[in-house]
Amino acid sequence: MIVVMKKIIIIFVLGYSLLLANGDLSEKKIATQKSITGKKVFETYCWGCHHQTAVAFGPPFSEIASKRNREEITAMITDPAAVSKLFGYKRNAMPPFTLSTEELKAITEYILSYKPKGSK
Ligand code: HEC
Repeated sequence: MIVVMKKIIIIFVLGYSLLLANGDLSEKKIATQKSITGKKVFETYCWGCHHQTAVAFGPPFSEIASKRNREEITAMITDPAAVSKLFGYKRNAMPPFTLSTEELKAITEYILSYKPKGSK
């Protein structure tokens, strides 16, 4: 009987410390979500139509980064209707985004980080 009780207590203690460890993890997750990262902006707004290196509905970031500079990318995200015309697209299927200055900067850097090595 005592042995069984001990086992139960051990299981209880183990389970409880696991719970605590998990709580700690999710706090860390919340902390990183608060800081704006390009990846987060990408996952929130762009992921449905763009992938990093594969063609999706829109062109991949690696392709964009190889032919556009920082200003062009920022302009496109702010006003796709006008800028896609300048880029030579016949139709514009990308919606405009109202991102904060930090978000815009973060996503632009994120796209540029996929620039293939050796391209200008
Ligand atoms: C609804 C789909 C959709 C979403 C969401 C979307 N895009 Fe696009 N994007 C496109 C399409 C389609 C194009 C091709 C040009 C066009 O249709 O205007 C494009 C083009 C672009 C271009 C220019 C490509 C070039 O030729 O240089 C950039 C830069 C870009 N997207 C960035 C983003 C970023 C950053 C986000 C998220 C904040 C985003 N897009 C979200 C569909 C989308």
